[in-house]
Amino acid sequence: MTQTQRTHVITGAGSGIGAAVARRLLDRGDHLVLLARNDERAAGLSAELPGAATVVADLSDPESLARSLAAQQLPAVVDSLMHVAGTVDLGPVAQLSATSWLHQLTVNLVAPAELTRLLLPQLRAGRGRVVFVNSGAGLNARPDWAAYAASKHGLKALADSLRQEEHANGVRVTSIYPGRTATPMQEKVHRQEGRAYLPHAFTTADSIATSILLALDLPPDGDVTDLTVRPGG
Ligand SMILES: NC(=O)c1ccc[n+]([C@@H]2O[C@H](COP(=O)([O-])OP(=O)(O)OC[C@H]3O[C@@H](n4cnc5c(N)ncnc54)[C@H](OP(=O)(O)O)[C@@H]3O)[C@@H](O)[C@H]2O)c1
Repeated sequence: MTQTQRTHVITGAGSGIGAAVARRLLDRGDHLVLLARNDERAAGLSAELPGAATVVADLSDPESLARSLAAQQLPAVVDSLMHVAGTVDLGPVAQLSATSWLHQLTVNLVAPAELTRLLLPQLRAGRGRVVFVNSGAGLNARPDWAAYAASKHGLKALADSLRQEEHANGVRVTSIYPGRTATPMQEKVHRQEGRAYLPHAFTTADSIATSILLALDLPPDGDVTDLTVRPGG
């Protein structure tokens, strides 16, 4: 690693928005540490993004994260921690099971909180930025979106508290609120909605990556705290 290289820890780099932002950062020579849910996914990420380091950690089991990370090599200084991984399962409250509620709240909210806690020493050392990829559903909850929207409303609360708590330590916090974005997650949403999936109607993962890079790269006289990106068509 060279002196000017910045170090980013990224979840969800195996697909969609996370893959797009990881590719952009790798192409410009930054150092990446990618979280994968298991060894097989870690091997896949290493093959897809050569040069990136991987760490195995399952976000569906936040209580295991401290033990998993303690057993692996982590950078001493982190310039950004990007929470991009996420999961969605639609359904009316009348039908959403406790299992579905727990899974979405765990992966989308509790795991980012725990991962942030575990990496705060490295983020403080780097006067780094935590980026939460939230959702329009983190600001407005619509029918059939209760569990996912609740997890993302919670993620907004986490970001807002963290921003104020860590300001004096030099850590900055950004929430990005994408609208519908053409990724495998959006394809799943369309299947659950029973609608035809037309990816060209939506923002590309690369455009969301551009908005994340804006938050990362803005000189320190400016601070992107919250950024909403809606499909432009
Ligand atoms: N697509 C949209 O329309 C949209 C809109 C607003 C917000 N968002 C948000 O944007 C973020 C990225 O979504 P996307 O559309 O790019 O989704 P995606 O293509 O489905 O990618 C989701 C990523 O999350 C990872 N992940 C899920 N569960 C995990 C777990 N238990 N442990 C570790 N990793 C896990 C997946 O890992 P694997 O590769 O191992 O499966 C995958 O890399 C999410 O937070 C989502 O809520 C998406």
